[in-house]
Amino acid sequence: MAGIDYSQKIPNNVELSSDKRLQRALEEWQPNYIEWWKSMGPTDFNMNDVYLRTAVSVDADGWAHYGFVKMPEYRWGIFLEPQQAGRKIGFGDHMGEDAWQQVPGEYRNWLRRLIVTQGDTEPASVEQQRLLGHTAPSLYDLRNLFQVNVEEGRHLWAMVYLLHTYFGRDGREEAEELLQRRSGNADHPRILGTFNEPCEDWLSFFCFTMFTDRDGKFQLLTLAESGFDPLARTCRFMLTEEAHHMFVGQTGVGRVIERTCQVMKENPGQDVRKFGAIPMEIIQKYINFWSSSSTDLFGAEVSSNSANFFSAGLKGRAYEERYEEHKALDQTYSMERFLEGKLVHEDVALRNAMNEVLRDEYVKDNQKGIAYWNRICEKYENPFRFSLPHRRFNRKIGEYSAGRFDLEGHQISEHTWNQKVSEWLPTVEDKIYVKSLMKPVLEKGKIASWVAPPPKGVNDQPADYEYVKL
Ligand SMILES: [Fe+2]
Ligand SMILES: [Fe+2]
Repeated sequence: MAGIDYSQKIPNNVELSSDKRLQRALEEWQPNYIEWWKSMGPTDFNMNDVYLRTAVSVDADGWAHYGFVKMPEYRWGIFLEPQQAGRKIGFGDHMGEDAWQQVPGEYRNWLRRLIVTQGDTEPASVEQQRLLGHTAPSLYDLRNLFQVNVEEGRHLWAMVYLLHTYFGRDGREEAEELLQRRSGNADHPRILGTFNEPCEDWLSFFCFTMFTDRDGKFQLLTLAESGFDPLARTCRFMLTEEAHHMFVGQTGVGRVIERTCQVMKENPGQDVRKFGAIPMEIIQKYINFWSSSSTDLFGAEVSSNSANFFSAGLKGRAYEERYEEHKALDQTYSMERFLEGKLVHEDVALRNAMNEVLRDEYVKDNQKGIAYWNRICEKYENPFRFSLPHRRFNRKIGEYSAGRFDLEGHQISEHTWNQKVSEWLPTVEDKIYVKSLMKPVLEKGKIASWVAPPPKGVNDQPADYEYVKL
């Protein structure tokens, strides 16, 4: 079961060849995907050999196999975690019933919507990052970018497999649509806001993989609990890939901070810009932007959709097994709501607060990243400390989007916001400065001025290994 059949056009561990109709449908989608990759994936580097990892089986030691491959020849495939015999639904109204191997008719539309929304983020991020290869700070970083890109492509495959297998004709239409929407396109945008934001420099890329991919992690954790077993098994395997994306983000921002610390230490009292590093304040503003935008991805604070998804057994809580009780009935979640321009305390029915429950986990995880970055400052005896903006800061979705809040979450006037916003979010000048640093450094063993080299390379290779053959 765990072995992956690479002799097939589409590598898979789901015995695709035993279902000829499905196999044909996916083999028809495959060239459209490749065409999308070539026109909307990373520009220009499709002919280069890149040191990438790919799955050879879904076992702990089998899914990370490394070798040189040209990106369009990456073996995108369909990998699900093995089925657990007798798995039961672990939460909601169907708690204790057998997990579904087919889509329950009454939940078909909700389930399709969940899968399409997740699926849409995957190609969106590849589109957002498509130009970054041209300004990579090192071969190591270039390789990491491409690793993230091919895996987001694979995540699209994961969702398309579910659509094709379980949703018939409308599933196939949705799979086509996933290749048609375009990040940032005014007429045909991607579904969720953050996935239409431009990601044009590497500080943004590192913040994106830190904060936006981490939203992905938590969405996958909730879907990994799903009563719809094929979705749960797909998402469990996707999570193993997602961990690397957040590693790229956390250590990436960390290396930018480290470089600034080094420059400040060597040149006390001077503007780090003179030495091609990025001021701490600008790094903090990028953190503020990408973390707040990604916080929006969890949706409204009080949500009947989230209650429905939970009741139906489609979307659980992250780490559902850590809870003592799995029906979430007759319980409340206490929160500060923002109603008619005022913050008011309210105890909300727990099922309606599931987005907020998940956002709590997300914020906690982000705080660990902030602590990691502050340890770098400490190591260099630099007094600067990073912080995570309050979840109410700079929101575009949910109740708090109706007001203005500072970094600590205090309500402020529009006037104060306008006065302070240039201290909190990247200004045009900040972005111009960061972009001015984005010059490719693609010689073996060299690195750009604004980022420290990685402490170690990929898969025990040296940090200055020739990860991409140019
Ligand atoms: Fe993904
Ligand atoms: Fe990701």
